[in-house]
Amino acid sequence: MIFTIGGIKGGSGKTTVAVNLTLRLARLPPDVLLVDADDQETATDFTAWRDETLNGATNYTAVKLTGESVRSQILKLRDKYDYVVIDTGGRDTTSQRAALSVSDVYLVPFNPRSFDIWTLQRVEQLILEIQAVRTVPLRAFAFLNRADFKGSDNRDAADLLSRSEPLLFLDTSLGNRKAFSHASARGLSVTELTPPDPKAVAETERLFQALLTHTHPRP
Ligand SMILES: Nc1ncnc2c1ncn2[C@@H]1O[C@H](COP(=O)(O)OP(=O)(O)OP(=O)(O)O)[C@@H](O)[C@H]1O
Ligand SMILES: [Mg+2]
Repeated sequence: MIFTIGGIKGGSGKTTVAVNLTLRLARLPPDVLLVDADDQETATDFTAWRDETLNGATNYTAVKLTGESVRSQILKLRDKYDYVVIDTGGRDTTSQRAALSVSDVYLVPFNPRSFDIWTLQRVEQLILEIQAVRTVPLRAFAFLNRADFKGSDNRDAADLLSRSEPLLFLDTSLGNRKAFSHASARGLSVTELTPPDPKAVAETERLFQALLTHTHPRP
C-alpha cells in the first residue's frame, strides 16, 4: 500500500506526519520505504538524525526521488515493500502528481487557519484531475493538524473539510504540541520521545488507526 502525504500548503505538517506514519507502520513490523519527494529534503534530514540517534538502527529504508522518477522508481520498488510512504512538498508539482499517480491513499493535513483552508479547492481540483487518469480511484483523506486547544477555528475548519466530496474528513486531529517538533528534531516518532507526551501519542495513534481502518482491513 502506498501513502502520499501532501497538499498545496507549506508547513502544514506533511513531513511530521509522513515520518510518524512510517515509524507507526514499521512497528507492525513490515518493510517500509520512506520516499522523500520534496526538494527541501526534510524527510531525508530526519532519517540522518535518526541514524545518528539510533547508531544506524533505522527500521525503514529511505530514498530521495524527484519529478517523473517518483512514479517510475516507485513502480520498480513497490513490490519489495509492504508499505511506501511518500512525503511531498507543499506545492502542485510534477513530483506530487507523479506520487499520486501510483498511490493508493492521499493524506492531507490542514491547519485550522484561513490560508490553509483556502487551499482546499485547489487540492480538490488536483484530486479530480488525478482521478481522471487513474483506473483504480485514489482514496483521499483530510485531517486537522496543529489544532487549537480553544476557540472556534477547529470547528469552522472541520465543517468545511467534512463537506468535501473528494476528501474524506478524519475527525481525529493532532493538537499543536511541542512534542511533535521535539521528536522530529531527534529523528524520533512522537511515540518514541522521552519523556513522553501521552496526549500527542494518543492523538497520533487515533489518527493512524482511523486511517488504517479506512484503508486496510487488518493493520
Ligand atoms: N501537531 C503539531 N504540533 C506542533 N508543531 C507541529 C505539528 N505538526 C508539525 N509541527 C511543526 O510545524 C513545522 C512544519 O512541520 P512540517 O515540516 O512537518 O511541515 P511540512 O508540511 O512538511 O512543511 P514543508 O511544506 O516545508 O515541507 C515543523 O516545525 C514541525 O515540527
Ligand atoms: Mg515537509
